Amino acid sequence: MADDVHIDPWSSSQSTDYQRIIDQFGLQKFEHGSVDHPTHLHRRGIVFAHRDFNNIAEAQRHAQPHSVLTGLMPSGQMHLGHSMVVEQVRWFQEQGADVSIAVADLESQATRGIPLTKGYEIAVEEYVRNYAALGLDPEQTQVYFQSKRSAVQRLGFQLGKRTNLSEFESIYGFSGETNLAHVQAPMVQVGDILHPQLEEYGGLRPIVVPVGVDQDPHLRLTRGLASKSNWFNVKLANRGVLIGLSLQDDNAEVFGMQANGRIDKAKVKHVFDLIQNKLTERGFSDIESVPKQGTIQIFSATAKDIHGIQAILLGIERSLGGMGLMAPCSTYHHFAVGLTGDKMSSSSPKSTIFLNDSIEAVHKKIMKAYSGGRATIEEHRRLGGEPEKDVAYQYLMYFFETDDSHLDEIYKAYSSGSLLAGELKQICSDKATEWMKNLQEKRDQTQHLVERFIRHD
Ligand code: TRP
Repeated sequence: MADDVHIDPWSSSQSTDYQRIIDQFGLQKFEHGSVDHPTHLHRRGIVFAHRDFNNIAEAQRHAQPHSVLTGLMPSGQMHLGHSMVVEQVRWFQEQGADVSIAVADLESQATRGIPLTKGYEIAVEEYVRNYAALGLDPEQTQVYFQSKRSAVQRLGFQLGKRTNLSEFESIYGFSGETNLAHVQAPMVQVGDILHPQLEEYGGLRPIVVPVGVDQDPHLRLTRGLASKSNWFNVKLANRGVLIGLSLQDDNAEVFGMQANGRIDKAKVKHVFDLIQNKLTERGFSDIESVPKQGTIQIFSATAKDIHGIQAILLGIERSLGGMGLMAPCSTYHHFAVGLTGDKMSSSSPKSTIFLNDSIEAVHKKIMKAYSGGRATIEEHRRLGGEPEKDVAYQYLMYFFETDDSHLDEIYKAYSSGSLLAGELKQICSDKATEWMKNLQEKRDQTQHLVERFIRHD
């Protein structure tokens, strides 16, 4: 449709029509009331949407293993916008998640022309140093490189079998001219997102990917591929929950398909018994297997049991030789505006504050930032300022003022006209100075930890 939102993960302009994005791509609204100890990003609706976050919330609540994975593109300097992801990762970590961070050095080489050696340097100097300073725990965080982790590449390659160029054309807008490295990059990202659940990286458990909404195409792709690879489907039935077998090349033998077209009933029975026993063990009752149709119905189950049943089936699939991949969950955050009022981007230094900027540079940038004040003081006092448009206000909200009641006072004072634009900028600059000074200090204090974050395979 002509007025559809198009999301391009590699473009520097992004739609900020978040409600349309939610509707069009079927995201769920993030309810911050549903989590414990929400950060200011959650409380202020900056983390605004998700896919299947409930699976993670459930794991958090019951202190069950779960994992957070995100990635960084080593192509420029780390700026404030990037720190938002780290903030969320730290929160997940505090709630009990183990953390993996992909350095997208292959993607950066493919799409930005950054050589791998350069990508390594940027990742360590610009990003990992700041991750350490921003409080990630080196014992619970592994930063790895796409180019070095063969399991990631292998998984991406294997799952390539379950998609094709047409799907890439419709998800990413690729065409005949698209170079193949660019086509491969999303498959590597699929490998990134799914690999923590491989046995050698911690095994089956829910994985959440906190990202800006520009990355959602990759999540759609990954979720689709994981579910296409699954040997069992689970869905809500008229009564209870229905499990169906999904016959594929790599499970035909296990499911009793013989070369002559006949079915080995003993094998089918084995699979069905396995499922039935596991479900009974986990407390489900009223289970009816219909091997002939390839279905099992659990009359006692409801919608809220689906995720648990899926997890049981993925375990069974693995025991039978399948990959047993769980679709990832994700959360999405709004983009902070750039200093100029447009998008924040590392390729336009005037639009953003870099984490390595000097305090003086930060002060200057903020004092010059796009303002939501009125043309004259008289008008400002009469009409009030517009915090929604004001970069200084936005930066206090996104980054520097974590106390909700202080922020609220500023909002009221500014929109009533008692606080002037210059005064607001000064408040923002003071807060930013404090934040940046603290970060600089932390960088020095945590410098010795940097190596510990990094994995070389
Ligand atoms: N494509 C992401 C970016 O442009 C980087 C990335 C690579 C990533 N692998 C990932 C993000 C896995 C999230 C999850 O910034």
